[in-house]
Amino acid sequence: MPQIKKAAVIGAGTMGSGIASHLTNAGVPVVLLDLPREGGGDRSAVARGAVERLLRASPPPFMHRDNAALITPGNLDDDLHLLADVDWIAEAIVERIEVKRDLYRRIDPVRRAGSFVSSNTSTLPLSMLVEGMPDTFRRDFCITHFFNPVRYMRLLEIVAGPDTRPEVIDVLTRFCDVALGKGVVPCRDTPGFLGNRVGVFALQAGLVEAAAQGLTVEEADAVMGRPMGIPKTGLFGLYDLIGLDLMLDVVNSLAAPLPDDDPFHQVAPGIPVVRTLVAAGHTGNKGGAGFYRTREAGGRPVRDAVDLASGEYRPAKRPVPDAARAGERDGLRALVEHPDPCGRFAWRVLARTLSYAASLIPEVADTPLPVDEAMKLGYGWARGPFEMIDALDPAWFRERLSADGFPVPPALEAVAGDTFYRVHDGRIEQRARDGYVPVERAPGIQRLTDLKRTRERILGNDVASLWDVGEGVACVEFHSKANALSPQSMAVLAQSVVRASEEFRALLVHNDGAHFSVGFNLEFALDCARRKTWSALETALRDFQDACRACSYATVPVVAAPSGLGLGGGFEVLVHCDALQVHANTTVGLVETLVGVVPSGGGCKAMLHRWTQDARDADEAQSGALRVFDLIGKARTAVSPQEARPLRLMRDRDRVTMNRDRLLTEGKALALALADGYAPPAPPAFIALGREGMAVMDAVLDDLVAKGIALPHDVVVSRALARLLCGGDAQRGTSVSEDDLLALERETFIDLASTAATVARIEHMLETGRPLRN
Ligand code: NAI
Repeated sequence: MPQIKKAAVIGAGTMGSGIASHLTNAGVPVVLLDLPREGGGDRSAVARGAVERLLRASPPPFMHRDNAALITPGNLDDDLHLLADVDWIAEAIVERIEVKRDLYRRIDPVRRAGSFVSSNTSTLPLSMLVEGMPDTFRRDFCITHFFNPVRYMRLLEIVAGPDTRPEVIDVLTRFCDVALGKGVVPCRDTPGFLGNRVGVFALQAGLVEAAAQGLTVEEADAVMGRPMGIPKTGLFGLYDLIGLDLMLDVVNSLAAPLPDDDPFHQVAPGIPVVRTLVAAGHTGNKGGAGFYRTREAGGRPVRDAVDLASGEYRPAKRPVPDAARAGERDGLRALVEHPDPCGRFAWRVLARTLSYAASLIPEVADTPLPVDEAMKLGYGWARGPFEMIDALDPAWFRERLSADGFPVPPALEAVAGDTFYRVHDGRIEQRARDGYVPVERAPGIQRLTDLKRTRERILGNDVASLWDVGEGVACVEFHSKANALSPQSMAVLAQSVVRASEEFRALLVHNDGAHFSVGFNLEFALDCARRKTWSALETALRDFQDACRACSYATVPVVAAPSGLGLGGGFEVLVHCDALQVHANTTVGLVETLVGVVPSGGGCKAMLHRWTQDARDADEAQSGALRVFDLIGKARTAVSPQEARPLRLMRDRDRVTMNRDRLLTEGKALALALADGYAPPAPPAFIALGREGMAVMDAVLDDLVAKGIALPHDVVVSRALARLLCGGDAQRGTSVSEDDLLALERETFIDLASTAATVARIEHMLETGRPLRN
């Protein structure tokens, strides 16, 4: 089967540049072409400027800045010949059919016969795009619809035309899944495909119902966010993020091809204030203001929100509606049954959206799965529409729809007293036209969430669990809020190591939450500091260290497969595993100094070992220890494995997975590969750097103070860190054991936690999510 070894992207705007940079993340060289810049100078300035913008963008589109060198910028007048040797041409130019067709006519004669061509169109039907094109072109053509930002949004919708060769779809599906890490959902050639058809409907229904129920912008976002299992950006926040003007275009182009009786037309007009805001230039985040804006007042940022009736800005509030609280505590049904306007809003948005999704079967898909996948992968919903109907209870949902005068779609009638998904004979099945069929995923795609539905938990508590994931591998799952690690989480980790050593061949540490772990539970640390219960803190730290050490010295291999954030204590778990299978967007680092403490789960010790293990004497160990001083002192993080490796936050033996849904399978395979003849490592020994070492670190610190980079409490924290890394009071050149260093970690943590400035840092982080500079 052919491979994608070289690609071209045409159109260097938002999407084209995003696709190009992400291709380089997969190691694929890319030709990036846009219109020529006329009037002298660099004719490829558009594409070249796009690469420069990519390097400045946040969150970073490149997994490493060096990847930019894999992009060859060019222009469509002078560089068309560069298309002759590429395997895939991805078109991402303006959404105008004639412009796209014109481009296809120009590229067809120069491209290699049999190379693939795809369009990133959001709304234009494939049938129209290829009208008048030769058969050879139609056979090589499909739609690959990426979402913005390309590196981070997981959904890729792929659409084949009647003439598209199966090989085009097969190769691109596999490549986009494995190499680009996308959740590939095959779609029919219907308007808006799956994600936008339902997602844009939900947004518009949200606007209409928020206004109808008299909700404020903030109230609507507080409800149509976490309580519904939707990202906390919410409704109006997402509108601001996408851009109000772009949304007007998207809604129009989505509505245009839909038949008159499609319910989308009822919500498409939205609310008048959108046009008022756009007319005033308030197009959302990119325009500096939208439904929300941030302004300076008295030297501080103040957030405003728009009054939906008057269109005027007023200071924003942070409401926590009762309905939202009920929903978060007791689930979706409690949210939509809540009698206040926020509850009514939730009900009416979901009634409209979920019944619309159900009405699209079988037009857009034969079964619920692709629709649910599209919403989860493309819009970040925790559950897809059909999973939400199951959570509400389909029979209840149907009755309530009828009672409130909403039409009941046939797919919902057909599911009768059952649910759209069920577990049967140890498998997850979904409702199809004539009964249930198994939920099939591509080989290697596996989610812990699915697996758990068909297994009994081995052990666990409210915040962590151990599962049997098959083939002799057990898996520890953290499942607290943001997977902050408490003594209870670590107790399960420690028990799991024991259990795995007795009954399994290997242990995996993995979860499919948004984040592997954001670190040690700060609330616990703060509570100890406020009540001065130092012995409780000492015990918790010791237990944390023991659980991490248990991972290192288990008699079976322990492999972690993280994604999202693996910070602080979360990273300390990772650093004690034998190997990692890391998702390519994972951010790792020891960030404890930001809250005025030092890593104390063995993180200082482990990083010191990584940087000094080959040193023969204190002089050789000195430079490695300085690197660790820099790494931990500055709370450096790496946003990809490519960045993590040079910092030794990841090692050569660690592996990378682009698709999160492959982490479990690939992590398990890595663990099993290590299992045969496995022997745990010997405990490390360290060389004390003594007072001389601390003096070197002090000099670095003095320089940071002189430059205004290190603030007073940074100095306190860094001095304590330096002492720890140099082996405390031990004489330079003497040997320091692992136990000594772990004791120093605990002592340093507790010393720092007893300072008012550290308590202030922790409080600030818990309140705002941002570090306090003091
Ligand atoms: P954009 O406006 O950011 O970029 C379009 C690029 O096309 C510009 O660099 C422009 O110079 C270039 N261009 C214009 N006319 C051209 C021509 N005749 N030949 C070659 N290049 C030409 O647009 P964006 O947002 O990147 O959209 C590109 C495509 O991706 C569209 O089809 C859009 O519907 C689709 N899309 C956009 C998403 C988004 O969030 N912006 C999401 C998913 C799909």
